Amino acid sequence: MAVNKRVVLRERPGNDNEPTEDNFAVEECPYPTSVPAHHILVKTLYLSVDPYMRCRMNSKTGVTYVSPWQLGQPADGIGVGVVVESKHSNFTTGDIVTMENFMWPWQLYVTLPKERLTKIEKSLVGDHYSLVLGVLGLPGLTALLGIREKGHVVPGTNQTIVVSGAAGACGSLAGQIARLEGCANVVGICGSDEKCQYLLQELGFSGAINYKTENVQERLLQTCPSGIDIYFDNVGGDLSTVVIKQMKPNSHIILCGQIALYNKDVPYPPPIPQDVLDYLQENNITRERYLVLQFREKFPEALIQLAKWVQAGKLKFPETIAEGIEQTGAAFISMMKGGNLGKQLVRVSDP
Ligand SMILES: NC(=O)c1ccc[n+]([C@@H]2O[C@H](COP(=O)([O-])OP(=O)(O)OC[C@H]3O[C@@H](n4cnc5c(N)ncnc54)[C@H](OP(=O)(O)O)[C@@H]3O)[C@@H](O)[C@H]2O)c1
Repeated sequence: MAVNKRVVLRERPGNDNEPTEDNFAVEECPYPTSVPAHHILVKTLYLSVDPYMRCRMNSKTGVTYVSPWQLGQPADGIGVGVVVESKHSNFTTGDIVTMENFMWPWQLYVTLPKERLTKIEKSLVGDHYSLVLGVLGLPGLTALLGIREKGHVVPGTNQTIVVSGAAGACGSLAGQIARLEGCANVVGICGSDEKCQYLLQELGFSGAINYKTENVQERLLQTCPSGIDIYFDNVGGDLSTVVIKQMKPNSHIILCGQIALYNKDVPYPPPIPQDVLDYLQENNITRERYLVLQFREKFPEALIQLAKWVQAGKLKFPETIAEGIEQTGAAFISMMKGGNLGKQLVRVSDP
């Protein structure tokens, strides 16, 4: 019988601390020998690790759409897997499946109720199953719908967009999509020179700023000579204060995420300084809360658009892949510290 493994939350880091690999433990666990009616036994192929998981390490997440992970229980999120045994006629052995509700356990073999599973069309992804966790999954949808719903892009008007977290899953796609949607000047901010080079040379960004080594204020003046029309904000904190203070009147912030503050005991979205609030108000800059899950009805059409761009070679989708379920905790910690280029994934097994 196959060996089964899972990754459990061993301890909580505390709301105000950085998480560590030791917060997780890898365990052997029983292989599911009997599959109940209407359930499907799947083998996990890939797991996604994502910033929102940080709040699930706390005893209260502070948001409505995800619950806390339980101590001693497997962490969960979004995964993709292959059907090993099916007790429902909608699924057969060999089908590739995923689940959108953040409840795919960090476990190699797992039995899941059929209602939660969605079959992946092989015509959509070919053998590249991890695409459904990245460009053809929530990161791609977050980037595209963020720009369409909150960005106010007007093609042909020479707009400048600045993207923070620009070399990550959402950011790397957001910059490319902003260009495809009509922005003339796309400037990315990220945490290393290698990432900056990648944005410029591979993803077609017009400018790239290393926030760890460069003067962001000065570099924004150089790279955004006609001002900033749109800010796709993945990080928040002091960096975003610097960007916002250079935004034009009547410009728009896509409030995607605030990762710089996820290890702080603050509500979401975190409060911003009064002088920044005053600047937003005086300059009529929009900064509405944005959650991709509020636009579920737009997912099918958005996925068709993303798939078209991918097939046409217009949208690149860098991936950083950790090998083995044992590495899932480490991959999460690494992503939180900037170890990833593009989407951080864990390859758990082969089909
Ligand atoms: N609104 C929504 O519906 C929605 C959906 C999905 C994701 N999100 C949010 O989108 C953001 C990006 O998520 P993702 O999945 O694409 O993650 P990601 O960008 O692939 O990975 C996180 C990145 O954040 C950067 N980072 C970490 N700490 C930072 C800090 N203190 N200051 C600046 N940058 C920092 C790191 O890159 P560097 O090397 O550049 O530091 C790291 O690679 C997150 O805030 C996430 O919560 C929102």
